[in-house]
Amino acid sequence: MGKQVTYLPKCHSTNDIAADLLTQNNFSNGQVIITDYQYAGRGQRGNTWDSEKGMNLTFSIILEPDFLEAAKNFYLSMAISLGIIDALSALLPDVKIKWPNDLYYENKKIGGILIESNIRSGKLMNSIAGIGINVNQESFTITKASSLKKILGHELQRDSVFQKIISGIDKRYLQLQQKDHKSLKDQYLKNMYRYKEESFFRSDKDFSGQIAGIDENGQLQISSGGQIMSFGFKEIEFLD
Ligand code: BTN
Repeated sequence: MGKQVTYLPKCHSTNDIAADLLTQNNFSNGQVIITDYQYAGRGQRGNTWDSEKGMNLTFSIILEPDFLEAAKNFYLSMAISLGIIDALSALLPDVKIKWPNDLYYENKKIGGILIESNIRSGKLMNSIAGIGINVNQESFTITKASSLKKILGHELQRDSVFQKIISGIDKRYLQLQQKDHKSLKDQYLKNMYRYKEESFFRSDKDFSGQIAGIDENGQLQISSGGQIMSFGFKEIEFLD
């Protein structure tokens, strides 16, 4: 992973560049597309991903997880988020994964992941793991956002953070390839934001409950009023 790194001084979205390379069949497994300035970055739920020029990490990794059943695609998401957590834990302990794959420090979002996959014959033929980490940016329009620099109080070398993340993801991806699903899931839960803590959520109505786990489809299981309910990504929102 990361043996081939394509650097672009600027681009619209590294996920879109990676998708173009896939269409042209002009890519290698593990190839990274990285830019200093992403001017049309995309986030989950159709949101934009804004990142100040030259301050952060915005990159995408092209993967061919054809060993993974499409129905188990959440394991890829777990492997990517855990790889990042492993890397960041050397710099900042207690970074958590807010389900499904936001990176949080306390109540602030410091990074996000956008995975886009193509499925063939029930397997993940290829996936683009787009990663945005707020490294040295100091001011944000979104109050929930923060950066490593703001939290640690000093600037970081983006390249060194990038190398750590690539090697962290590489290790977790190997674990995924080895079908070590149980420990990926155990460790994902261990690093999960608000796991087993009483929290407020919004679905059809607002309610309180505790995150009890993740089901086989990657849905969030919440225990509330003596019942366990499962929610898909678009069906639930965390309230503060
Ligand atoms: C989210 O939290 O909503 C996901 C954000 C993902 C942002 C990254 S930055 C690199 C890659 N290219 C994009 O357009 N998006 C992802």
